[in-house]
Amino acid sequence: MTNGITNPASVPDITLADGCGIPQVGLGVLRIDDEGVQPVVEEALAAGYRHIDGAAGYNNEGGVGRALAAAGYTAGEARASLWVTTKLRDSEQGYDSALKAFDRQLGLLRLDYVDMYMIHWPTPFDWRSGETWKAFVRLRGEGRVKTLGVCNFLPEHLERLHAETGEWPTVNQIELHPTWQQREVVAFCKAHGIAVEAYSPMARGSDLNAGGGTIGRIAAAHGVSPAQAILRWHIENGTVIIPKSVHADRQRENLDLFGFALTPEEHAAIDALDGPTRAGHDPLTFTYA
Ligand SMILES: NC(=O)c1ccc[n+]([C@@H]2O[C@H](COP(=O)([O-])OP(=O)(O)OC[C@H]3O[C@@H](n4cnc5c(N)ncnc54)[C@H](OP(=O)(O)O)[C@@H]3O)[C@@H](O)[C@H]2O)c1
Repeated sequence: MTNGITNPASVPDITLADGCGIPQVGLGVLRIDDEGVQPVVEEALAAGYRHIDGAAGYNNEGGVGRALAAAGYTAGEARASLWVTTKLRDSEQGYDSALKAFDRQLGLLRLDYVDMYMIHWPTPFDWRSGETWKAFVRLRGEGRVKTLGVCNFLPEHLERLHAETGEWPTVNQIELHPTWQQREVVAFCKAHGIAVEAYSPMARGSDLNAGGGTIGRIAAAHGVSPAQAILRWHIENGTVIIPKSVHADRQRENLDLFGFALTPEEHAAIDALDGPTRAGHDPLTFTYA
C-alpha cells in the first residue's frame, strides 16, 4: 500500500468545535522559498493533498498562491474542496495591523477566503493576542476566514485569551512528535474542545531513528517507512498533522496512512518514546517577529 497514489477521500476530516471539517493530513511549507514552493504545492495537490499549512512568516505565500492558481484551486468546487491555513506575523499582531496584514496575505494567496487564520506565537512578553483576536472575529464575521486558531499556546495563554475574548480557538498547532509529546497541553486542549495539530510531526526528521530503532522495527513489521509509522501514530491519536516534504514520493508516502494500523503494543511503544527535548522554539521566549 505504500507509495501509491492516495485517494484524497481516504483522508478523513476532523470536525472542529465550530463544525468546520479540517483534513487530518496537510502539507507544511516551512523552509521552502517563494520560487521553490510553487512546484512543491502543485505536486502535493496532484498527489491528493487537500490541506496546505502556510504562514506569512514563511515568506512564500505568493508562491503558494501561484500554485493554487495554476492548479485551478482558487475558485469554485476545487476551492471548496481545499483547506488553506495561514498565520499572522507576530510583528503584525494588534487590531488594525492584523486586518491590514490579512488583506495582503489573502492577495498573495489569490483567494477570497482562507479556511483557518492563526496567531503564530503567543509572545507573552509582548501580549497582544486579545486585540488581535477581535480582528480575527471580524474577519470570520465577514466570511473571509472560516475558523480561528492559534499556534504554540500553552494552557496559560489559552486561559488568558479566553478571559479576554470569551472564546477558545478551534485549533492549537503545537510542536508534537514521539520524543516531545506535550501531554499537559494536549490534555488541556482536549478538555476544552480545541483540536490539536502537530507541527514538526517527525521532529524535522530526527524522530525517524527514535528509540534506538523502535520506529524502524515497527515500520518494517508493516512494510511501511519510518515516517509512515510515526504519522500513523499521530493519526490514531486523533491529531491533525502537517508533515513537510519537497519530494513528491515522500509527499505521497506521508499521505498514505490509512491502509494499516499499529497494534496496541506498537502504539504504546511509541508513546514510551516521550522525552524532555524539543526540536523547535520555546513559546515563552520565542518570536518570529
Ligand atoms: N506553527 C509553528 O510555529 C510551526 C513551527 C514549525 C513547523 N510548522 C509547520 O509544520 C510543518 C512541518 O514541520 P517541519 O517541517 O518542521 O518538520 P517535519 O514535517 O517533522 O519534518 C520535515 C523534514 O522531514 C523530511 N521528510 C519528510 N517526509 C519524509 C519521509 N517520508 N521520509 C523521510 N524524511 C522525510 C523532510 O525532508 P524533505 O523536504 O527533503 O523531504 C524535512 O527535512 C512545517 O512545514 C510548517 O508548516 C509550524
